[in-house]
Amino acid sequence: MQLGVCYYPEQWPRSMWADDAKRMVELGITHVRIAEFAWSRMEPRAGEFAWEWLDEAVATLADAGLKLVLGTPTASPPKWLMDAHPDVLPVRADGTRWNFGSRRHYDISSEVYRRECRRIVTAMAERYGRHPSIVAWQTDNELGCHDTVPSYSDAARTRFQAWLRQRYERIDALNDAWGNVFWSMEYPSFDAIGLPNLTPTDANPIHLLDFRRFMSDEVASFHREQIEVLREHAPAADLLHNFMGFFTTFDHYRFADDNALDVAAWDSYPIARTESIALPEEQKARYARTAHPDVSAFDHDRYRAIGRGRFWVMEQQAGPVNWAPWNPVPARGMVRLWAYEAFAHGAELVSYFRWRQCPYAQEQMHSGLNLPNNELSPGGLEVQQAAREIAQSPALTGLGAPARASVAVVFDYETQWMFEIQRHGKSFDYQTLVFDYYESLRELGLDVDIVSSKADLSSYRLVVVPSIAVIDAALVEQIERGGAHWVFGPRSGSKTTTFAIPSSLPPGALQRVLPMQVLEVETLRPTLAPAISIGDAQGVANHWREHVRANGETRIDAQFDDAWPAILSRGKVRYVAAWLSHALHRAVLQQAANEAGIETQQLADGLRIRRRGGLTFAFNFGAQPVRAPAPANATFVLGDALLKTGDVCAWQDA
Ligand code: GAL
Repeated sequence: MQLGVCYYPEQWPRSMWADDAKRMVELGITHVRIAEFAWSRMEPRAGEFAWEWLDEAVATLADAGLKLVLGTPTASPPKWLMDAHPDVLPVRADGTRWNFGSRRHYDISSEVYRRECRRIVTAMAERYGRHPSIVAWQTDNELGCHDTVPSYSDAARTRFQAWLRQRYERIDALNDAWGNVFWSMEYPSFDAIGLPNLTPTDANPIHLLDFRRFMSDEVASFHREQIEVLREHAPAADLLHNFMGFFTTFDHYRFADDNALDVAAWDSYPIARTESIALPEEQKARYARTAHPDVSAFDHDRYRAIGRGRFWVMEQQAGPVNWAPWNPVPARGMVRLWAYEAFAHGAELVSYFRWRQCPYAQEQMHSGLNLPNNELSPGGLEVQQAAREIAQSPALTGLGAPARASVAVVFDYETQWMFEIQRHGKSFDYQTLVFDYYESLRELGLDVDIVSSKADLSSYRLVVVPSIAVIDAALVEQIERGGAHWVFGPRSGSKTTTFAIPSSLPPGALQRVLPMQVLEVETLRPTLAPAISIGDAQGVANHWREHVRANGETRIDAQFDDAWPAILSRGKVRYVAAWLSHALHRAVLQQAANEAGIETQQLADGLRIRRRGGLTFAFNFGAQPVRAPAPANATFVLGDALLKTGDVCAWQDA
């Protein structure tokens, strides 16, 4: 359990640096991230490097005993570079270019920009790569943020054509796979293929999907070019990137493949995230100051998988931020709670954004651990408390890694892209569906691993697949081989990899283990809500429902009030033929978990628990005080069973 902070020495007079470093250490901070936006100061003019200030900043922080994370500055190319290469500005879907004057104003496919990035990263890595206090390097900053990926530039088009040529080899094969006979979309050659923007009506969904796959690969290859330089010059450092919450523009599992990352780091802004995702207004209101209890946990569990067990929070909300629709002050205790929550889910480091609120430029309304006048902010005081508690508790300092959970939830990036391309009804959002399942499991007191469908799932007792567009033979083999119980949600197996309906009808290859067919699907406006009950839980279908036929030995376990099957099963495999209201999801998952031999509990509203290394942590995100479900004779290593809003406790497992 280590605490860090993001710091921008270039934004403050040098006379403050030594005192900042000293106060960081006094606060209990061990890691500091710097430099990720400082290109204009590292290289004020083309080829003219000015390292002296950074040398001094690094030395000052290192001398104080801090470990450093150095960011490559490629998210903010300086003006001289943009003037010399205006084509580096990314192109939006409407064909216009973004302007200079903020950040992320570069086209990820630009060969010129990639060359410039390799140049600055090499210069930086040659200078600092073997510095003993620099323990990690971050590439760029939040790749894909601010909608700058995809770019619809000429560079992207040329590279997309090459990507397609490699994938399909022959243009006839592409025309067949894409179904281009439809509307006379056939192409005479790969060079003739454009980007799927500015079409009068929908572009071909497979054209859109392949473009998204290509862009995802572009993001990964952009990062990898920096990794190659860093592995050579900074062989001992951990290499990472800071990903975002609820962010699906590229496939993070593929991004992390092949030694491209040592740690998955991500940036956690729970209140702002709660405000900006598709949650019902009632929940946004309820959790306005604490954030939704699962919104950070969801990404902790996802990034733990992406980092193959190793993840950090690179930026943690420390108070009100500036970029959500509304930016309230967090309830007292939350800034401390979020650190423990991340640790309970397996984080090695929680690093707050930022050391001090900057009184000028874009983020002047964004809090930090210090106010602009250098007094500790309310968030800073909470971090001080957490740091003291951790330092005083051997049980917290020496926490082991989290064990593998008995429940896995499959999250699949391509499914997100496919269902975004073809929502069919405006309220269908795959990630929101996954989140609803995840929330249900967490309300049942379960620890969850979020995993790729390609991971080895053999050790899980329950695998929940809220949906997955393509079910391939390998996944069916995992079902046939393992002893797990499986729950599949609607739209599973509804597409092929080339974005067509499987010839055997959905759910495609799943029929091998669960004979059934989806005959028709419907999206539901809010006034269409077929009713259903499961055990004691009453509810409806929202957003999406299927009309399905059970074949062979498949059982119908529940029906809608108009007699269409809602839940089907055979053996250990279940299929849910609709997006069910929340209490019904919970009921289905509780049944499945209990059948799989997993004990569940019903946690109080707003309460969550998480186990790690022999401890159970409990967190209260709700408005009312609650009692944590600790045994009567539990030994607490943090707090006690009675939790006010924003409070946390931890006890030793018996
Ligand atoms: C992140 C970004 C930081 C800062 C922060 C403000 O998205 O990486 O540089 O802008 O948001 O919340």
